[in-house]
Amino acid sequence: MRLRNVKNANNIVNNSDYVIKNPEEYIGKYKSIFKNNNPIHIEIGMGKGDFIISLAKKNPNINFIGIEKYESVMVRAIEKLNNLNLNNLKLIRIDAINLDKVFNKEIDTIYLNFSDPWPKNRHEKRRLTSSVFLNIYDNLFKDTRHIIQKTDNINLFAYSIVSLSNYGYIFNKVSLDLENEDIDNTLTEYEKKFINMGVKINYLDAYKIC
Ligand SMILES: C[S@@+](CC[C@H](N)C(=O)[O-])C[C@H]1O[C@@H](n2cnc3c(N)ncnc32)[C@H](O)[C@@H]1O
Repeated sequence: MRLRNVKNANNIVNNSDYVIKNPEEYIGKYKSIFKNNNPIHIEIGMGKGDFIISLAKKNPNINFIGIEKYESVMVRAIEKLNNLNLNNLKLIRIDAINLDKVFNKEIDTIYLNFSDPWPKNRHEKRRLTSSVFLNIYDNLFKDTRHIIQKTDNINLFAYSIVSLSNYGYIFNKVSLDLENEDIDNTLTEYEKKFINMGVKINYLDAYKIC
């Protein structure tokens, strides 16, 4: 994601009703934000929000939380939300490494879409499917762990399969060509770009029972 310095990003993020400003205060209490017991799905690294906004519109009985590290990127999602009134979507600006400080046993599904591949070996721990992050995710999930990943990057994909498998995850589905699968797929911003370039999308859906 190319980052541009967005003027007023801090103000826009802090003034949006979609953004949870003090997420640590809601640890274990996200039901109180959504005012229902519906499942909660999060996208880590939601970027400009196309995917999570579309999912929230399509699935009113699921609560969605978009996680993004950078305000300047989150602002683009907030702009798209300005004319929408979605009760089942919230955003949190946080680095994923700190997610266990804001969620405790309340998440049903994690989406990892076109995550940064961190190709150098010395950066392995930064990959969102490394054991470091799988360990953090353990604290977030309510019961069964459930991760859905999409990526153009075959090396990250192969790494994720090994990492998830070593961690005890079982695969519902693995595909090297998502477009040609019979899966109800919601496109992300990056995915649209890659499809237009003729790049095949890798997909996995994995779970682990506690
Ligand atoms: C390549 S973009 C993909 C955006 C979107 N998911 C899509 O598919 O169009 C990756 C996004 O993840 C965010 N990101 C990367 N590492 C992160 C982390 N540790 N915690 C939260 N967000 C992160 C980046 O800022 C960026 O917006």
